Amino acid sequence: MWETILIGLLVVVFISWLKSSVRPSNFPPGPVNLPFVGSAMILDVRNLTKSFATLKNKYGDIFSIYVGSTPVVVLNSYQVIKEAFDRHEFSGRPGNFSGTFFQKGRTGISTTEGKHWKVQRDFLENYLDNLTGAGHKAVEEVILDETTDLKSEFSKHEGEPVSVSYKTNISILNVLWNVVCGRKLHSQQQEFQTVYECIDKITQFMSRAAIFSFLPVLTKLLPESITCIERGRYYRNRFHEISEKWIQEHRQDYRGNRTGDLQDAYIQRINQGDDTFSEQGLAAMLREIFIIGAESESVMMRWVFRILSCNPQVQKKIQAELEAVVGPKAQVKWENKDDLPYTMAAIKEIQRYADIAPTGLMHKTMCDVKIGGFTLPEGTLVMANISQCHRDPKLWLKPEQFYPEHFLTQDNTLKSVEELPGFLPYGIGKRACPGAKLADMQIFLVVSNLLQEFSLSMPGEDAGVIATQFKSGTSVLRNPRPYRVVINNRVSS
Ligand SMILES: *[C@@H]1O[C@H](CO)[C@@H](O)[C@H](O)[C@H]1NC(C)=O
Ligand SMILES: *[C@@H]1O[C@H](CO)[C@@H](O)[C@H](O)[C@H]1NC(C)=O
Ligand SMILES: *[C@@H]1O[C@H](CO)[C@@H](O)[C@H](O)[C@H]1NC(C)=O
Ligand SMILES: *[C@@H]1O[C@H](CO)[C@@H](O)[C@H](O)[C@H]1NC(C)=O
Ligand SMILES: *[C@@H]1O[C@H](CO)[C@@H](O)[C@H](O)[C@H]1NC(C)=O
Ligand SMILES: *[C@@H]1O[C@H](CO)[C@@H](O)[C@H](O)[C@H]1NC(C)=O
Repeated sequence: MWETILIGLLVVVFISWLKSSVRPSNFPPGPVNLPFVGSAMILDVRNLTKSFATLKNKYGDIFSIYVGSTPVVVLNSYQVIKEAFDRHEFSGRPGNFSGTFFQKGRTGISTTEGKHWKVQRDFLENYLDNLTGAGHKAVEEVILDETTDLKSEFSKHEGEPVSVSYKTNISILNVLWNVVCGRKLHSQQQEFQTVYECIDKITQFMSRAAIFSFLPVLTKLLPESITCIERGRYYRNRFHEISEKWIQEHRQDYRGNRTGDLQDAYIQRINQGDDTFSEQGLAAMLREIFIIGAESESVMMRWVFRILSCNPQVQKKIQAELEAVVGPKAQVKWENKDDLPYTMAAIKEIQRYADIAPTGLMHKTMCDVKIGGFTLPEGTLVMANISQCHRDPKLWLKPEQFYPEHFLTQDNTLKSVEELPGFLPYGIGKRACPGAKLADMQIFLVVSNLLQEFSLSMPGEDAGVIATQFKSGTSVLRNPRPYRVVINNRVSS
């Protein structure tokens, strides 16, 4: 009796395994899918980098793996990534991306797709591009103000090893705050502290939550102490309340000191009755700007300080260029960038080398599509290996080294975008980061103005290894290992 039931069960399990393990026809090849765990047993989970490299050698630039029972197609070269992500058919976003939780469903930009996504993304990109375009003075002033504050903070700690993360976070947050609310808060104010805490906690939660997108059952099985769902929800709601308050203030013709900020522009679209614009959508966009925007800039700035402090000779060249072009005292402005090719090349090389989003966020096919001779059914998850582009020996002379000359031509001018295939600091194609220009401007102004006055070095005991911090291995962004930096005034030293 029991044996019959057992055998019956085994047969059911076996058949369902067979069904789920068979890839759709003409699907990209990859390792065998096992029940419940997907390809995990075949991959060495402790060293995914190595496993994926093996798969690339075996299956080529397009292969597939199973995560749980979900197939994921991995694109592994610049050519296929560009081809795919420039096409609307590849611009979908999986429904259970961990962001859906923090966005309270599919609103905003990062969790949506189709027309809603396109209209909202175009609005944000357009708004930010306008800020950094011809009339960029206002936002440039804001960034320069923050840079001045940063410099005076650093002067207080001259010669001591310090951690720069908190101070750069404050200045990043202040710039975003200005763009969004048209005003600045003091970092000691309660509201600022609350927002800071929310961003920090939500970010931590999101990096844990990535894996739950694939195995949602885990959120039910694992205890709260591991999933932190309740805490995530608490901070999400708290941030939501704050953004609602901002929106109401803007709605009620708030008589503060604001100057046609992002919320005003958005509310104008709501008032015009434009399709897909709503208060809920604005709240979602604010969360995205503060969480995704602040986090990625914060990670980038941490790499900037680390890489520069490990490369004193690069700092010297930047400083020499700044002195020759701008002079030792004048503030460096955004308009100077075209005359500072080495400085620009060094910044771009930091972005390449840091490679902060090795795979970006997952895409999804919007319909049945063909790529590289394979057929992907509608709704297939697609992951781009951005790291591969940044480390491809066919594209870079010294892919594993920090080498600003990658971005310079023979006669020391900055290479054009066309000459730099595989440089994707903000992703590529239809879903590339809409904040790219603002972030570029901020990195440039901070780096150039700081190096004009200070030199960065490593504490004596630091061996100068530029290393990644592997924590859970599930978070989207790559962080540098915690470090300290010694800041010296160039004039007094
Ligand atoms: C992406 O490319 C890098 C560099 O070639 C490699 O180490 C890594 O394993 C690849 N990741 C995936 C997911 O294929
Ligand atoms: C993974 O394997 C590669 C190649 O064998 C090795 O160089 C690397 O150190 C390993 N990484 C980890 C985290 O063990
Ligand atoms: C998302 O996860 C939920 C369970 O948490 C599941 O019911 C739903 O079908 C999933 N949606 C998609 C699009 O995978
Ligand atoms: C950006 O600027 C253009 C031209 O000045 C204007 O038409 C457009 O409405 C602006 N967009 C936003 C979102 O402010
Ligand atoms: C607005 O700015 C003016 C001076 O520029 C200041 O006197 C006033 O108090 C400010 N108002 C608010 C609400 O911050
Ligand atoms: C800086 O902000 C990021 C999130 O944007 C957070 O993960 C990090 O912990 C913050 N650093 C400090 C020192 O607060």
